[in-house]
Amino acid sequence: MGTTADRELPTERRALVSTDVEATIALGRALGQLVEAGDVIALSGDLGAGKTHLVKGIVSGAGGAPAEDVVSPTFVLLVPYDGGRVTIHHVDAYRLGGPEELLDLGAIDLFADGVGVVEWAERVEAALPRERLGIALDYGEEPSERTLALEATGVRPVALLRALDRALAEAGWGSERRAT
Ligand SMILES: Nc1ncnc2c1ncn2[C@@H]1O[C@H](COP(=O)(O)OP(=O)(O)O)[C@@H](O)[C@H]1O
Ligand SMILES: [Mg+2]
Repeated sequence: MGTTADRELPTERRALVSTDVEATIALGRALGQLVEAGDVIALSGDLGAGKTHLVKGIVSGAGGAPAEDVVSPTFVLLVPYDGGRVTIHHVDAYRLGGPEELLDLGAIDLFADGVGVVEWAERVEAALPRERLGIALDYGEEPSERTLALEATGVRPVALLRALDRALAEAGWGSERRAT
């Protein structure tokens, strides 16, 4: 009999290419339409990689706020967008000293009630649940291109990723998508 900690969790990965800002927002919107309370989305990648633009889509997709209202929370470390189906808790961990500061914000309890979307997740990784959807963003070959490496760990995150597959296929993302 294993404990939760040592049980093997299912893992699936996808690689996506976003051709422009609008595609990144559209991808986020598709994801925002699928998220449920308890989901945690961990965004990593350098400054300008497109994390906040993806969050704009997630928040607007969930009905939390219009995309233009979502900005990098420079001074406020955690912003709840509660205008929609489910509350999206947007965290920017850039200025957090480490994982313990994420815990100090009460983020883990908030994430259980709503959806946690964390920018600079790599800085607070130890405080994040293992069962999450990780999205690593990076610059692409063209100035307006970004690559997104998605990794779902756990039963629910894998289901979320598969639902996203279907939504993206319906939205015509097929040709830009590479499964790994
Ligand atoms: N395909 C793309 N997806 C997202 N942002 C892009 C894309 N192409 C260019 N950009 C630009 O890159 C920047 C991304 O900024 P932002 O989303 O704030 O990044 P981060 O939160 O990762 O620092 C914006 O200036 C945006 O216009
Ligand atoms: Mg940002």
